[in-house]
Amino acid sequence: MSTQPATVNADARSMPDLLLVASKLSKRFGGLQALSDVSFSICKGDIYGLIGPNGAGKTTLFNVLTSLYIPESGTCNFMGHQLTRLKPHEIAIAGIARTFQNIRLFSNLSAIENVMIGRHIRTHAGVFGAITRNRATREEERAIQQQAHELLDYVGIGHRANHLASALPYGDQRRLEIARALATEPSLLALDEPAAGMNASETMVLRRLIEKIRDDGITVLLIEHDMKLVMGLCNRVLVLDYGKVLAEGKPADVQRNPRVIEAYLGAGAGNHATVPGGDAAVAPTGSASDASNDDKELQ
Ligand SMILES: Nc1ncnc2c1ncn2[C@@H]1O[C@H](COP(=O)(O)OP(=O)(O)O)[C@@H](O)[C@H]1O
Ligand SMILES: [Mg+2]
Repeated sequence: MSTQPATVNADARSMPDLLLVASKLSKRFGGLQALSDVSFSICKGDIYGLIGPNGAGKTTLFNVLTSLYIPESGTCNFMGHQLTRLKPHEIAIAGIARTFQNIRLFSNLSAIENVMIGRHIRTHAGVFGAITRNRATREEERAIQQQAHELLDYVGIGHRANHLASALPYGDQRRLEIARALATEPSLLALDEPAAGMNASETMVLRRLIEKIRDDGITVLLIEHDMKLVMGLCNRVLVLDYGKVLAEGKPADVQRNPRVIEAYLGAGAGNHATVPGGDAAVAPTGSASDASNDDKELQ
């Protein structure tokens, strides 16, 4: 259950520049209430964390925000757009880009081609231009390629530009997905478990990348199970449990919240962890990356 109206969170913050306001979003799958009256708001410049035990509704919330799922009720305003009324392909144009819990790349294309595809929503060459390959089209393609190279450098895999996506190490595939998402020039970048499967040093590199993205003016929404990463990176955290908002606030406050601790420990005693600082904290039950529903997303 939402404990606060969406705007209260934002008012309490030093940066009142609202980017996204979700209000009472609910999503049901048959008899399962996957999201129940979820309200929260994200300010420009946030690295906004979304956590919760497996099955809490985190990916479903991403799918609602990106119009893959239509909620039964609730609204979501993003920079003046009512997201729940947009088609999935209009979401990127509105300024939201995402990555997936289960990596989704064109495995038989090279790294740079994957990024170039991400860029195409912002280009102008029409079908006629693509067929005739006139000068304007060729120039645009060169610009797209140049920008894709820059993005690969930006995420740290410039040297892999011509490698097949499927041949890249796992951590590089995750970074390639981020580069492809950035190619759409989003205002909000939503990352669904970007550190899943990464080792400690890869996670550290990822952390620096996410900070750089934020510093470059892109707001980040982050689903992540690595609590050290979440607590160190995010300035705000939303906790979901059984589709309901359990807590929302600064990481340190959320971490101490008895309801949050109980939700995690109750979900699997013995699986809990202690984060630096000694607070009882939150680790997922089961594997680092939960059983995904990505496969169901496009049904
Ligand atoms: N397309 C779907 N059809 C049926 N149930 C779904 C679908 N997507 C998600 N669910 C269910 O909704 C609940 C929340 O799932 P999800 O959002 O993937 O959780 P999280 O990402 O927090 O682990 C789970 O019980 C899951 O099985
Ligand atoms: Mg998920």
